[in-house]
Amino acid sequence: MAGKVLFDTPEHKVFLFEELTPASAVQANQYLIIHRDEAMLLDPGGHKVQSKLFSDISVLISPKQIRYIFLSHQDPDIVASINYWMMVTEAEALISKLWMRFLPHFGLDSKLEGRVIPIDDKGTKVKLGGDCELMIIPAHFLHSPGNFQVYDPCSKILFSGDLGASLGQDYFFVENFEDHVKFMEGFHRRYMASNKVIKFWVNMIRKLDIETIAPQHGAVFKGKEMVEKFLSWLESLECGVDLLKEEDYTLPQ
Ligand SMILES: [Fe+2]
Ligand SMILES: [Fe+2]
Repeated sequence: MAGKVLFDTPEHKVFLFEELTPASAVQANQYLIIHRDEAMLLDPGGHKVQSKLFSDISVLISPKQIRYIFLSHQDPDIVASINYWMMVTEAEALISKLWMRFLPHFGLDSKLEGRVIPIDDKGTKVKLGGDCELMIIPAHFLHSPGNFQVYDPCSKILFSGDLGASLGQDYFFVENFEDHVKFMEGFHRRYMASNKVIKFWVNMIRKLDIETIAPQHGAVFKGKEMVEKFLSWLESLECGVDLLKEEDYTLPQ
């Protein structure tokens, strides 16, 4: 079965693929934004996912219509299948300039490197299908040092990458935020760099009109009320270097 529909109008569609990761791997969501005759594939994942994702996408569009492959950061659950996707599409891949030279280590063929576009730290905008302008937003240190997110103004969805990720819950949409916190807390406290960075990010993100926050792992936050609950929880979260103590750096005995 192809992806779940997150947004659906005649000219603009967004799909979520959430069930393709094998059981031993961390669950990962892949997203496809289609605007008119072009698409962006977000964080395609690893080798175990690639051929299932390809056939699910083929039900919806011709993979040749994938204009961009967005890579939020350098982790294997994002990037490992990059050579495959560059072979089976004509897309350009977008990734932080920090990670450009790491892609060949995932097996990216040197013939394909010319289609990888480095994103400068400040982010950028790209047009899909002629008139849908996607914003590539900086989210550095949340968690990767070179980290971006995509805001789609046509669906008002923010694709937040690892921010907002949850692990272990058995639902696709967050219904009860307070109950959901336990599935996010451990990951955010350990992986996100600091509350200082989170506050910078929340202040920037509040300027956008967001209906849905769609993370790369776990459940999606749907509706303005749920989005605001997530932002206010995150804003006061201590994480990363905030929590470190000198005794965390003791040589093993
Ligand atoms: Fe990551
Ligand atoms: Fe991830």
